[in-house]
Amino acid sequence: MKVLITGKNGQLGSELQRSCPDNIEIQCFDSQTLDITDIAIVNEILISFSPDIVINTAAYTAVDKAESDIDAAYAVNQTGVANLATACKAINAKLIHISTDFVFDGTKTTPYVSGDATNPLGVYGASKLAGEQAVSRILGEQAIIVRTAWVYSQFGNNFVKTMLRLMSEKEQLGVVYDQVGTPTWAAGLAKMLWALVQKSSDKAEEARDKLQVTSDKVEETSDKLQVTSDKVEEARDKIQDASDKVEEARDKIQDASDKVEEARDKIQDASDKVGAESKTLNQTTILN
Ligand SMILES: NC(=O)c1ccc[n+]([C@@H]2O[C@H](COP(=O)([O-])OP(=O)(O)OC[C@H]3O[C@@H](n4cnc5c(N)ncnc54)[C@H](OP(=O)(O)O)[C@@H]3O)[C@@H](O)[C@H]2O)c1
Repeated sequence: MKVLITGKNGQLGSELQRSCPDNIEIQCFDSQTLDITDIAIVNEILISFSPDIVINTAAYTAVDKAESDIDAAYAVNQTGVANLATACKAINAKLIHISTDFVFDGTKTTPYVSGDATNPLGVYGASKLAGEQAVSRILGEQAIIVRTAWVYSQFGNNFVKTMLRLMSEKEQLGVVYDQVGTPTWAAGLAKMLWALVQKSSDKAEEARDKLQVTSDKVEETSDKLQVTSDKVEEARDKIQDASDKVEEARDKIQDASDKVEEARDKIQDASDKVGAESKTLNQTTILN
């Protein structure tokens, strides 16, 4: 099983590399080696590595900056994601795409589920939702969209590291308390993503096995068909032989019948001659 990972230097990309299972071959890219906004590069790399699965962790993640950097946010989070989905479709690879709770407006007072109505409040959330929609449109069931929230890890910047740093620097901290969220440990999320990959791999293996069984049965049926066909051929040859012999016998009978006819004609001729001679003899006797 070959897996291509985008955004390898990000929080999630780093954790995915650290926890990659032994039976999986990975190829990981940063924005320099695989800029997902560049369709030509995306196609070239996906075709040459030919992965079974692509995990897209690459994203424009600067939530506040996105409000004034709209084109850049959409270029990565919508166009770049659509590029990956299109290339995945071309090479028949599965896409596991990471999205965000920011596609919701946050007004729900119970935990969100995947079917809840989306309503992003900012550019980052709207661009990520546009990316999700592109993935679903292009790949349908061939893609999995995983929405996560408040990702933290030892890598990059995140609120846990910020809090730890501020706590070591200050006596008192002023922190917003009007937000509710579920912090997600990037290592835990990576583990869950590898489990998803493993499940896909098992399904692919199962489908391959079923195909093998079907192929074996086809082979077996074809062999049986060949045996039957050989027997039919053999029977046809025997019938032909018998038919040739019947033809031969018929010819012999015809020959014999012709000879009998010929002999009968000769007997008739001889008989006619004997009759004529006997008549002449009678006339001679009378004259005498
Ligand atoms: N962090 C969160 O709290 C959070 C919350 C919800 C959802 N998410 C989603 O989870 C995923 C992973 O997040 P993360 O925290 O790991 O993000 P991250 O640490 O900000 O990493 C994102 C990576 O995307 C790469 N990238 C940006 N533009 C790119 C481009 N044009 N082509 C290729 N790569 C590009 C960057 O690569 P370079 O470093 O090489 O430039 C960066 O390493 C993202 O989809 C994000 O939207 C994150």
